[in-house]
Amino acid sequence: MSDQKKHNKLTTASGRIYVENDNTKTVGPRGPVLVEDYILHEKMAHFNRERIPERVMHAKGSGAYGVFTVTNDISKYTKAKLFNKIGKKTKVFVRFSTVGGEKGSADTERDPRGFAVKFYTEDGNWDLVGNNTPIFFIKDPKKFSDFIHTQKRDPYTNMKSPTMMWDFWSLMPESLHQVLILMSDRGTPYGYRYMNGYGSHTFSMVNDKNDKVWVKFHFKTEQGIKNFTSEEAVEMKAKDMDFAQRDLLEAIDKGDFPKWQLKIQVMTEDQARHLDFNPFDLTKVWPHGDFPLIEVGELELNQDPDNYFQEVEQSAFAPAHVVDGIGYSPDKMLQGRILSYPDTHRYRLGANYEQIPVNRCPFAVNNYDRDGLMRIDGNGGRKSNYYPNSFDDIEVDKEYYEPSEALDDNIADWYDRNSKIGGNDHYSQARALFRDIMNLEEQDNTIANTIEAMSGNSGPKREEIIYRQLCHWFRVDEEFGSRVADGLGVDVNSVMASMNAAHG
Ligand code: NDP
Ligand code: HEM
Repeated sequence: MSDQKKHNKLTTASGRIYVENDNTKTVGPRGPVLVEDYILHEKMAHFNRERIPERVMHAKGSGAYGVFTVTNDISKYTKAKLFNKIGKKTKVFVRFSTVGGEKGSADTERDPRGFAVKFYTEDGNWDLVGNNTPIFFIKDPKKFSDFIHTQKRDPYTNMKSPTMMWDFWSLMPESLHQVLILMSDRGTPYGYRYMNGYGSHTFSMVNDKNDKVWVKFHFKTEQGIKNFTSEEAVEMKAKDMDFAQRDLLEAIDKGDFPKWQLKIQVMTEDQARHLDFNPFDLTKVWPHGDFPLIEVGELELNQDPDNYFQEVEQSAFAPAHVVDGIGYSPDKMLQGRILSYPDTHRYRLGANYEQIPVNRCPFAVNNYDRDGLMRIDGNGGRKSNYYPNSFDDIEVDKEYYEPSEALDDNIADWYDRNSKIGGNDHYSQARALFRDIMNLEEQDNTIANTIEAMSGNSGPKREEIIYRQLCHWFRVDEEFGSRVADGLGVDVNSVMASMNAAHG
């Protein structure tokens, strides 16, 4: 508090000045400890409460503040105020992370990387909570906890388990596209500065005439893509578990501010209706040839947080947090995430997590929610705590109306029956990535990384799991499948025979 008198004396949390900080008060010089040494109690009790639950995933991370600057006019797509003028600047907080490891795990693990951005806009905070990949392992939120369990520790051995991972992936072919990216050298990025970020989901944008389009967000690194090879990543893990934290912190400390170009892809509602694939399927990208990238602005990170726990550990992002002009889409995964994040924050940080400074909306927040643990924003003071009331003039604003969505008659269903090529083409885009995008060196590394990762599966049902996964790799690309099979010492003909048998 600003009216606290400043002095340089050591005090208890209630402000009592310490007279002694080395020795505990005892009965006589060698006697037992006195219960009345409150300073001892306070120090021990506070220490015992230092840990809060770590994020159930994305627990290891690094954060920084920065600024987003608009460089191109996209007001024909969105009325979002942060985009309404070239040159406009918006403060941001970004948290990067690995996914599967605990808070103390190594930064160089083969894993996707989180890329979460909080824009403090005049219309409220907008959180774009993405990854360094444009797609994800699954397309339905009901599968999420099962999938994440396979990335965590085995319930019996308490160790990471390649068996669980490959068992799940091989039984869930929709994961293939993302697993391929994970097995490429992009699965081990060189810290956080040299990777792209993606909003991944399809979102919507609405302009001032309430015309709506679908959009995807892409952050393209201006540092260039740089990855570790598998060997380099393992070496770095032994040398420096916190490589990515150190790299980001030190770059910003010395004024070498990392930057990303924000771009969008735009799809009209009509295009979405006539696509061959489901544009809300998180395991698919929108090809750039059909939906080119449009420049939006530049993100720069230029300030390290002063206190890791206060600002990075207590930061809380939620895909539910959108602002006027940017909206959701029927992507099932996005819909699942809208519910999940605020729920997990209430568990991890408490019901008033949005009052923690890094999460707080810097502009006015008005509502009738009150009380709860650690309420520290004045709690509405003497103002009314119910609506409607006769005492304040707080009201809704119809200007913020979002056009309602036209639904088709299959919307209330579990399955995607609409895609012409079916929701089950898990292979074409993965094939395009391997065959058309990766150069020979990237292909070789991806194959070697896949062999290394699949070799880790030495548990029960090893052969069954390897066969099943190989069948998927063959469907992506025959050369890829054969070389992985060779590397694992599996007879290619027997895999082919089992694929043919499966197809009758
Ligand atoms: P494009 O040639 O227009 O785009 C290919 C994209 O692939 C570029 O954005 C490039 O990103 C990225 N890329 C290059 N190497 C890798 C890698 N090893 N792992 C992941 N991404 C990589 O082709 P299309 O848009 O037609 O897409 C073809 C395939 O590229 C897709 O099936 C998908 O697998 C992959 N891809 C597509 C993206 C999209 O949004 N369309 C985004 C990312 C990947 P950069 O140049 O910035 O390095
Ligand atoms: C973190 C759930 C899919 C990106 C988390 C957390 C949960 C969660 C519970 C921990 C949050 C916290 O404690 O602060 C889910 C669910 C998903 C899903 C239920 C699907 C149904 C995704 C996808 C992406 C993603 C598809 C990326 C496109 C992230 C990121 C974080 C995170 C970046 C870390 C945010 C931070 O830095 O604090 N997720 N997730 N998640 N998730 Fe997801």
